[in-house]
Amino acid sequence: MSNKPCLRVENLHVSYDVGSTGFLGKRRKLHAVNDVSLEIGAGETLGLVGESGSGKSTAGLAILRLIDVASGTVRLGETDVAGATRSELRALRRRMQMVFQDPYSSLNPSMTIAQLLEEPLIIHADIPKDERKAMIGRMLESVGLHAGYAARYPHEFSGGQRQRIAIARAMMLHPELVVLDEPVSALDVSTQSQIMNLLKKIQGDSGTAFLLVAHDLSVVRLMSPRVAVMYLGEIVETGPSGRVYDQPAHPYTAALISAVPFPDPERQRRVNRIILGGDLPSPMSPPSGCRFRTRCPFVMDICSKEAPPKVAVEGGGLASCHLHAHGPKLGGRSLNDFIRDKQIVSAA
Ligand SMILES: Nc1ncnc2c1ncn2[C@@H]1O[C@H](COP(=O)(O)OP(=O)(O)OP(=O)(O)O)[C@@H](O)[C@H]1O
Ligand SMILES: [Mg+2]
Repeated sequence: MSNKPCLRVENLHVSYDVGSTGFLGKRRKLHAVNDVSLEIGAGETLGLVGESGSGKSTAGLAILRLIDVASGTVRLGETDVAGATRSELRALRRRMQMVFQDPYSSLNPSMTIAQLLEEPLIIHADIPKDERKAMIGRMLESVGLHAGYAARYPHEFSGGQRQRIAIARAMMLHPELVVLDEPVSALDVSTQSQIMNLLKKIQGDSGTAFLLVAHDLSVVRLMSPRVAVMYLGEIVETGPSGRVYDQPAHPYTAALISAVPFPDPERQRRVNRIILGGDLPSPMSPPSGCRFRTRCPFVMDICSKEAPPKVAVEGGGLASCHLHAHGPKLGGRSLNDFIRDKQIVSAA
């Protein structure tokens, strides 16, 4: 992180109450986010990746206090978000916003674009009517839409245009932070790159920080200089995107990356695929010790006994894996080199 923090999250825990089981009908807790810490600098993008069910959306929603935080600290600038009262939260809403994956369901179909964009202004700011109208026109143009579209309804637009509208709505009050939850995954490939370019332009103009949630690593690689990798509710690796992609230090990250096809067939041939066995375990009963151990090709005795400590990685960032302290000696080499040398996994 290069500049002053916009968002600081420490030891965040989030759980859901799920259906009662057994004859006593006791409610059970699903721990969807477990001890997550991260920071985003002003105007910076942090990518949050992980497979489906790893807790990315839950973390994003809790950071914005759209769902309850069980414990931990969330700070936006100097403001305590996790402990904010109802009225403090109302004031915080204008400083942090969310864009959802599905532009078809995230916009109220019975409201015009003008109404959708005006709503945050009316709720949060005391701005005269004609100034509001001018702001809406300017915002539509800045997301690449005609100001004249303001009178239309969401169904009159394509998926990409609707996502532009959702982005415009989130940006109306110049927030410090926007959580983008899979903002392009519902769109076709060419529309995806247009929306990513738009997000970059908007960030350059506004200095808004983004938490970019995605399961698609290529999206995060294009958009964010830093990345955090989530597995079963925990962050298992963080670091500069280049280092994480080229020299992953956690076997889960290495597996995620090895699943992404390289456009260059020569490079593709040199990649050893790590095939993960089994499904993501249930967060209701996570494995003891390291949560990844049940699917890890390098599992050792210690992995079931102790949770791995966070280890600083050469080239930047942290990885939570016993291999670095207890494993077959990596001897200063990256996990990637280790995999290649050992030929533990075969190309698939
Ligand atoms: N409202 C809810 N009630 C109960 N459990 C939930 C709820 N929302 C999510 N979960 C559970 O919490 C865990 C984390 O889910 P979450 O949606 O945050 O994952 P995700 O990483 O965003 O996945 P995806 O990539 O599919 O969006 C999962 O086990 C999920 O089943
Ligand atoms: Mg999600």
